[in-house]
Amino acid sequence: MYAAAHSVQVVEHLPKTKGEGFVLSQTKPAAKKVIAISGGKGGIGKTVLSAAMGIALAEKGKKVTVIDADISGPNLHLAFGLCPPPLTIREFFENRRMDLNQLLIDTFVPNLTLLAGAQDSLKICNMSFHLKQKFMANLRRLEAEYILLDLGAGTAYNQLDFFNMADMGIVVVIPDPLSVQDGYNFIRLSLYRRLTRVFRFVPDIQNIFQQTFNLINCGKNPTIKSISQQVQDLGEVYYQEWKKTIENFKLSLLVNRVKTSADFLECLALQIATQHLLDIDLKYIHFIHQDENIRRSVVQLRPDLLMPENGVAAKDIRHVVSEMILDEKETETKIKRGGEPENYIKPPKETFFCSYRCRHWNVGSCEFQNGGHPCPIPHVDENFRFY
Ligand SMILES: Nc1ncnc2c1ncn2[C@@H]1O[C@H](COP(=O)(O)OP(=O)(O)OP(=O)(O)O)[C@@H](O)[C@H]1O
Ligand SMILES: [Mg+2]
Repeated sequence: MYAAAHSVQVVEHLPKTKGEGFVLSQTKPAAKKVIAISGGKGGIGKTVLSAAMGIALAEKGKKVTVIDADISGPNLHLAFGLCPPPLTIREFFENRRMDLNQLLIDTFVPNLTLLAGAQDSLKICNMSFHLKQKFMANLRRLEAEYILLDLGAGTAYNQLDFFNMADMGIVVVIPDPLSVQDGYNFIRLSLYRRLTRVFRFVPDIQNIFQQTFNLINCGKNPTIKSISQQVQDLGEVYYQEWKKTIENFKLSLLVNRVKTSADFLECLALQIATQHLLDIDLKYIHFIHQDENIRRSVVQLRPDLLMPENGVAAKDIRHVVSEMILDEKETETKIKRGGEPENYIKPPKETFFCSYRCRHWNVGSCEFQNGGHPCPIPHVDENFRFY
């Protein structure tokens, strides 16, 4: 109803060019140059997988830089067997004219450089949005073909913003309900942060967010579809922008430390929750086996053990890199699984399920088990919400 009056405002204020807002929400990036690795929870393998995927890309002859963007506990250098380097990301934030190329450190892998992280700087802990954009713009000027950003745990603005600014987002989870929940929260808040940034100058949409918050306080659980409907009622210009912002929020899931097929399936609850509550299709879902080589590599400071030629996890990681990152022909397939864990049980075709550990699973009230109905999604809603 306000479409005509507000369309000018939208056109004026919505970010249109690189650097003004989240680039992803407006344009389709030409290449997956900057890849952010996150997952909400700590200790799930973000750092070792960032290092390992960097190595796998470099093995394929790509020029790669891995960046330690974990402000609370930078340790990516350890995955490469390096002592804390004297030059870190801090130099850039303290002296913004610093050329990032001067901060890169060679690793034991040809073609792979590291930008080490720094923890003791208030400037980094509380970065302005503008400074983050500046950092991102500088990253894009690095010579590397692929830049992997190891983000720290948590859902602070730094993690959400870097995740949103990257060309590709990978969410890591492990088969543990706490990690699945944290992974979902990370996705939810990233999307919400993205929407609030894009529509930050549109009071009507800010009001909708506020009303949604009030609903939550009254014990309701609105989904993004119901909110989208309200945006549509405001006018087609807003709605198109809203839809585009959500559609461009593409991310992939890496299920790490998988031992059994049930482990892998456990994490697919995220697929249901993000689809149903956030309207997001996870683009790829892959798994990485639990592998003693990875633990030994960390414990013994032996980076050479991270990606041995025949390592179980190393094989998974090489597969992930060629499917998820290097595969140029993006098919329409919504979920592309990277092989199958041992004893993998295929879920019945076209059937949704939430979790083997769902409280309905073994007590006879699971509709999925009782006759193959699609799982009643509301069981998922008990644990996941939009806002
Ligand atoms: N696939 C795997 N197989 C065996 N062990 C693994 C695997 N992935 C990770 N680990 C173990 O998990 C530990 C934590 O990994 P890592 O430091 O990469 O987690 P993180 O998510 O980066 O943690 P933080 O949030 O603290 O930065 C590693 O030291 C390693 O021993
Ligand atoms: Mg880490």
